[in-house]
Amino acid sequence: MTQPSPAATVVGPLDEFPDGTARKVDVDGVPVAVVRIGDDVYAIGDTCSHQNVSLSEGEVWCDEREIECPKHSSTFSLETGVPTTLPATQPVPVYDAAVVDGDIVVSLRPSDDTEATR
Ligand code: FES
Repeated sequence: MTQPSPAATVVGPLDEFPDGTARKVDVDGVPVAVVRIGDDVYAIGDTCSHQNVSLSEGEVWCDEREIECPKHSSTFSLETGVPTTLPATQPVPVYDAAVVDGDIVVSLRPSDDTEATR
């Protein structure tokens, strides 16, 4: 099982996050969209990089592991935060998320995926 980092925040029981949906949570004052796909969980910055719109109000594309902005339909990778369609061109942050003892925990430390290209 994945161990949470010391700064991890419990955002709620996995069972309370419906499969294939996103929910906005507040982690230390930062809006985060938490997405559950089966037993996998993702945490992505909730604010679209194109305009100030909540991504958690958009649709989750489970097979693609993407979330669609509800305003102009840019889609963002849940794994990297990179937009895959216009009009958004800038990535949104991606955070560590894991399930620990039945709870989803999120750390605001950027995940290794987003740092891998540096
Ligand atoms: S506000 Fe998200 S794509 Fe325009």
